[in-house]
Amino acid sequence: MAAVTIRGLTKRYGDNTVVEGLDLDIADGEFLTLLGPSGCGKTTTLRCVAGLEKPDAGEISIDGRVVVSGRTFVPPEKRDAGMVFQSYALWPHMTVRSNVAYPLKMRRRPRAEITSAVLEALEMVGLDHLADRSVGALSGGQQQRVALARALVARPSLLLFDEPLSNLDAKLRASMRTELHAMHERVGTTSIYVTHDQIEALTLSDRIVVMQHGAIHQIGTPEEIYADPVDRFVADFVGFENFLTGIVVDVDTWTSVVKVDGFPTALLARSSKHRTFDPGDDVTLALRANNVTLTDFNAASAATSTSAGTDGIPATVTGVAYLGDQVEYQVKVGAHTLKSRMSSPVRWAEGDQVAVVLQQDSLLVVKES
Ligand SMILES: Nc1ncnc2c1ncn2[C@@H]1O[C@H](COP(=O)(O)OP(=O)(O)OP(=O)(O)O)[C@@H](O)[C@H]1O
Ligand SMILES: [Mg+2]
Repeated sequence: MAAVTIRGLTKRYGDNTVVEGLDLDIADGEFLTLLGPSGCGKTTTLRCVAGLEKPDAGEISIDGRVVVSGRTFVPPEKRDAGMVFQSYALWPHMTVRSNVAYPLKMRRRPRAEITSAVLEALEMVGLDHLADRSVGALSGGQQQRVALARALVARPSLLLFDEPLSNLDAKLRASMRTELHAMHERVGTTSIYVTHDQIEALTLSDRIVVMQHGAIHQIGTPEEIYADPVDRFVADFVGFENFLTGIVVDVDTWTSVVKVDGFPTALLARSSKHRTFDPGDDVTLALRANNVTLTDFNAASAATSTSAGTDGIPATVTGVAYLGDQVEYQVKVGAHTLKSRMSSPVRWAEGDQVAVVLQQDSLLVVKES
């Protein structure tokens, strides 16, 4: 097993700097995910760790050994890392067994050792019964398991995954996710996992690194990233769909009172533990669609006070989408459009007057990215 240290990692393609001064420490046995939108530099970072790319600057150590720094460059085959790619990169005409045996053959291991190691790796991924089938005659999910077995067979101290599940259908992706998680619990190999799928990141990781434009926005446990995103970019990436800009009018330790143009009362929002805000600060409020609830509009109970409140804000329904077990509404409050998701059945139609309730504690003050 291995801890990985990345310092000042920088990679350019021509004028395009795709990773810039990235610092990261991955603990021995940790499952760490790089999460971010397409083009943010996830694969490039992973390939630098694997030795498939040479960085322009920076240093990487694996298990205390410097593998790249200045003129030092340890080639990929000497880094003791197993890789699993999105495209399985298997030989379709060879059998499952031969595909999995390949890394050990390259290392010229004795035949008996190869036979038992291959069987063990295939048992780990539940494919021992298909050892003699040709890879071309397997389903996508089975092929991805072969790729996983091949990455595991040499018992590497580091596993590198680049979107390994993205070619699978939704159901298979979910079951492979569970299996990968169970495998990591069992084997405990230090793993760096690249994805743009927040569910994968949340379910698999000990820690998540959220990246944009080759730089890190936030590093945290899945719970921290999900509940307490540092800024609008991270919030947006982990599923907050409503953003309101406003001005802080009052603060205490845990809450801020924020005035948003067009809302009849100021809003009570949870302050993030990452930052403090002062009265007068421009801030962004982030809110998940399932924390926005609609109720029937009742003029008498609609918020009229000038104190802070998140209840009964008058709104107009501007869109309704039936999603099966849930209904998604778009409502207008002043010039703002909010998205709400509630259990079905459909209760309101476009043009209806409703009252919006913003769930206590779910309105979060975040930094504008
Ligand atoms: N060999 C290359 N030559 C030139 N530009 C490259 C090369 N490889 C990657 N890039 C560019 O570097 C940037 C980062 O690419 P990278 O593959 O690391 O992104 P990513 O986060 O893995 O994205 P995705 O989620 O789409 O896989 C992109 O703008 C990409 O076009
Ligand atoms: Mg990529």
